[in-house]
Amino acid sequence: MSVFPRKGRPGEPPLVKSWLPFIGEALKLQRDPIGFMTTLQKQYGDIFTVLLGGKYITFILDPFQYQSVIKNQKLSFRGFSNKVLLRVFSIKKLVEDDAMNDELHTCYQLLQGRHLDMLMENTMQSLKQVFEPQLLKTTSWHTESLFTFCNSVIFEMTLTTVYGSILLGHRKTFITELKDDFFKFDGKFTQLASGMPIELLGNIKSIRLKLIKLLTTENLAKFQGWSEVVQRRQDILEKYYLPQDIEIGAHHLGLLWASVANTAPTMSWTMYYLLRNPEAMAVLRDEIDHLLQSTGQKKGPGFSIHLTREQLDSLVYLESTILESLRLSSFSSTFRFVQEDLTLHLEAQDCCLRKGDFVGVFPPILHYDPEIFEAPEEFRFDRFVENGKKKTTFFKRGKKLKYYLMPFGFGISKCPGRFLAVVEIKQLLVILLTYFDLEIIDDKPVKLNFSRSLFGIQHPDSDVSFRYKVKS
Ligand code: HEM
Repeated sequence: MSVFPRKGRPGEPPLVKSWLPFIGEALKLQRDPIGFMTTLQKQYGDIFTVLLGGKYITFILDPFQYQSVIKNQKLSFRGFSNKVLLRVFSIKKLVEDDAMNDELHTCYQLLQGRHLDMLMENTMQSLKQVFEPQLLKTTSWHTESLFTFCNSVIFEMTLTTVYGSILLGHRKTFITELKDDFFKFDGKFTQLASGMPIELLGNIKSIRLKLIKLLTTENLAKFQGWSEVVQRRQDILEKYYLPQDIEIGAHHLGLLWASVANTAPTMSWTMYYLLRNPEAMAVLRDEIDHLLQSTGQKKGPGFSIHLTREQLDSLVYLESTILESLRLSSFSSTFRFVQEDLTLHLEAQDCCLRKGDFVGVFPPILHYDPEIFEAPEEFRFDRFVENGKKKTTFFKRGKKLKYYLMPFGFGISKCPGRFLAVVEIKQLLVILLTYFDLEIIDDKPVKLNFSRSLFGIQHPDSDVSFRYKVKS
């Protein structure tokens, strides 16, 4: 990148002036993402180019124009994602091997449809085996830090659901160590994804290597009951690498990260909002009780209840609560790499894009748009329910929106694990709400800390205590 400020070319979107040559406006974005984007929108309109962390990004803020980004074949997702996978997980081969990339993408269908039913079974088994003995002992109040508790539970559940159970005597110690290293590594995700050299991040390089080594072919054999997606991925990887190649472990770390890193904070925020909203908690308990009664299920000893995907789907208030938590906490952007100079044809105008730049959409601006969601800062557990059914119609400028809630991205890069993430959180909440009394202890409000603006679900700025005990 040149040290001289760039000059706009005819037909290009307005360029946001920046006084910091490399970082550009990144610091302002991190402090207050919605305020920052709204200010630029007022000043420059719905399309503008801004320098962030050394990259020129053209943001398209009007949701009715998203389709032009999805449809344009010359805007590449891989041009963006391969760089991130190299920087964060040290996966090198994807950059030069399109065939392997294509094959690995075919695995993602194993996270959906009938395959999801099998994954759900694994989750329920893991909930039973892993947490039943431990949780059902808590007949008197037990206090925990909420976000730490949810991270821990989701990590163990997801690891077991996707990779299977660990065949080791010291299983618990192994998982605890893996989990602690995983979250230390995850804590530096934004810096790594933004291109900061790993050598500047303390001991993260050695932690990443340790995690990668734990997930190589040899060590993966110590897990029993791999999900179909892991089995198929391993078969493909062994076609392109020697079985002992350490980069196989890097691919598995990538999948493990994708499956836990956003699911854990989503679970945490959902629990946090529920605990602070007793009315919402009561409606959800009621909805779940009703379903259990209508399916003839009794809360026997142990986690004896079993719900199918359709039954979980019928819990509209539960789903709405999760979607509302995602609306408030998701600050993901979707990016595409501009492979060659091109003109994007938008409704109101054409827009020239420059080779080497990125195009981004920024859904949080929709999530917090008062025209779409009344009082957008407020948590309203029933926002996505209408007349007892899922609400899917939201409007802007009097027009029905196709895109109004986008925590899972869109188009070719839309999250393939979105159904798994939501059913996993539903299963865990059904168990917690059915078997336990739950209470928040700290009354202090927790805010988003925006440490990973543009990259997924935000983390809290502090933890809070809550307590639980088995219902008598
Ligand atoms: C609430 C939880 C989750 C959220 C908010 C979430 C969000 C996202 C988003 C926004 C993307 C797109 C990234 C982009 O466009 O650059 C993505 C991609 C992805 N997600 Fe998720 N995700 C979640 C859970 C999961 C789970 C449980 C899995 C299970 C394996 C998963 C697997 C993946 C994979 C493999 C990709 C990459 C897809 C590709 O390369 O085309 N995610 N996720």
